[in-house]
Amino acid sequence: MIGLSIESSCDETAVAILKDGREVLANVVSTQIDIHKKYGGVVPEIASREHILHISYVVKEALDKAKLKFKDLDYIGVTYGPGLIGALLVGVSYAKSLAYALNIPIVPTHHISGHIAANYLTYPDLKPPFLALVVSGGHTHLINVKDYTKFEIIGKTRDDAVGEAFDKVARTMGLPYPGGPQVSNLAQNGKPTYKLPKTKFDNYDFSFSGIKTAVINLVHKEKDNLSKENLCASFENTVCEELVDTTIKAMKDLNIKNVVLAGGVSANRVLRQMLQQKASKNSFNSYIPDLKYCTDNAAMIGSAAYYNYINGKYFDIKDKLDLNAVANLEIDK
Ligand code: KG4
Ligand code: ZN
Repeated sequence: MIGLSIESSCDETAVAILKDGREVLANVVSTQIDIHKKYGGVVPEIASREHILHISYVVKEALDKAKLKFKDLDYIGVTYGPGLIGALLVGVSYAKSLAYALNIPIVPTHHISGHIAANYLTYPDLKPPFLALVVSGGHTHLINVKDYTKFEIIGKTRDDAVGEAFDKVARTMGLPYPGGPQVSNLAQNGKPTYKLPKTKFDNYDFSFSGIKTAVINLVHKEKDNLSKENLCASFENTVCEELVDTTIKAMKDLNIKNVVLAGGVSANRVLRQMLQQKASKNSFNSYIPDLKYCTDNAAMIGSAAYYNYINGKYFDIKDKLDLNAVANLEIDK
């Protein structure tokens, strides 16, 4: 089965071609980061316009890289939510037109299921069930992945997503967007000397607005005495402990032996190490995605789309023209 997949939910126009959901024949990402950098974050209207400008070229480049033609494709997978509505609509409209013109099925795919599936590309033998810690710019979820297309959210952030907190902390310190990698780079030269607050709940929820505010207050209070390196190290360490400790607690309580890391923040060095160490200390198995599949890409969407496809979660575009993008799409509904 050859599937072409499209991802345009935020600031990357991405297209991939996969064979049988696990073999990546092409993976092209056209990033808009340099355009949004000057505004300190993603400007939705600019993102949509950039997707429109680039999508046809990115599709052509993916086909060329895979040495395939449109007629070789069996289905089209596309992210239809969650994300920026205008940005999503570009990918969804393009995918609908292409599926219509080629007379092949369309496979609407959830963005987060794609982040989770990044691990299927990294570990060819990985299969559900497992627990997924999903950490991105828009989401912080603990998801019980019961099967390839069956998800149950068991915990989530009550305020900021963890990537969003990294980006806001970076912005306060005058670091460019996207802030996560910048904070992490500075942290490498620092020590976690600042004591920052942690939020604990009785269930598996998270909260990052308290620590974000504490960091912002410290930046204003300490002024010239501030060690950005030490503050970044303290923030990174505290946040990673909160994420990993809650994950391990859930695994113990629910008797789940395997954990998978997913989402853009899974590129974070400390989080990767800490999850691996604490999981192995408890005799759990941990799976950490290859760095090239951590942040938004279409290969991960292609893998998730494949499992939707073989589980019958697709349709013939000519029977159902009204597929729409959904900005706040839940994964477990
Ligand atoms: O998954 P993603 O590419 O987009 C969304 O679906 O949101 O995640 C982007 C987020 C940004 O907030 C970015 O700052 C964060 O992932 N990020 C990191 C690192 N690399 C990316 N955060 C911490 N450390 C990193 N190394
Ligand atoms: Zn993402």
